[in-house]
Amino acid sequence: MRPTTKLLLAAVMALAALPAAADPVKDGKKVYMTKTCMACHGKGGGKPVMTYPALAGQNEKYLQQQLQDIKAGKRVGSVDPATGHPFVQGMTDIMHLVDETDIKNVAKYLSAQDPAAPKPLDPAPSAEELAAGEAAYKGLGCKACHGNDGLKPSNKAYPFLAGLNRDYLIRAMTEMREGERTNGKSKMMFGTIKKASDEDIAAMATWLSQVDRSAK
Ligand code: HEC
Ligand code: HEC
Repeated sequence: MRPTTKLLLAAVMALAALPAAADPVKDGKKVYMTKTCMACHGKGGGKPVMTYPALAGQNEKYLQQQLQDIKAGKRVGSVDPATGHPFVQGMTDIMHLVDETDIKNVAKYLSAQDPAAPKPLDPAPSAEELAAGEAAYKGLGCKACHGNDGLKPSNKAYPFLAGLNRDYLIRAMTEMREGERTNGKSKMMFGTIKKASDEDIAAMATWLSQVDRSAK
């Protein structure tokens, strides 16, 4: 073997012996695909089933906090009348499958995914309904923390709201107004959301669910 070839071979072998570089997004995808998450939150976190939250493109810090709180049983929320258990129960039940590193990685992976286009509502909301939602959102001062049209949270620990499932949005807002969801930074919402009527909540959820983040 020529000396240069020998050197090259040694270099290649040295490289191969190095541990694979950590890639949190890739590791997070693996967690997402293998720990049942996809069954409920859909491909890439963008196509949730039923009234479950979309996760694609959500703020990493917010996702991480919710995952930690759900695992610790701190996020309870309201009871699903169809099952008699809290809506979050199915998720809490699988959280023993993930550890702290998995949580960090899966939050990184999900926040790096492109948000999906809004799911059309049936029947489609009227222009008046959408305008009422936008007016309530602006009038109540939600913009200060969640940004214009729910598109630009003012802090990395605050969630995007645009394009989330309508029924999920209604539930999340109602739970915070009623003091059923108290984990994380939800207390920051309490002052504002207690001024929202059921009609305001329904209108804001309808409008926010149709704001398209995928094109932004
Ligand atoms: C059995 C269905 C189910 C499975 C499996 C599941 N989830 Fe969830 N997840 C839910 C539901 C339902 C909620 C909303 C609960 C509520 O309404 O309070 C939720 C909430 C969340 C939230 C909070 C979102 C927000 O906007 O506040 C995150 C983050 C999340 N899930 C990530 C995951 C990850 C990651 C996995 C896999 C490790 C997973 N979920 C597995 C059903 C599930
Ligand atoms: C002072 C800042 C602040 C204001 C004002 C505020 N929010 Fe929030 N909001 C938050 C924070 C922080 C969270 C995340 C709570 C957590 O950590 O669990 C949140 C969470 C939410 C969620 C749950 C999202 C999810 O994925 O589960 C919804 C929905 C929401 N806010 C809607 C609103 C609406 C509508 C208004 C106006 C009526 C509003 N917020 C006003 C800070 C605020």
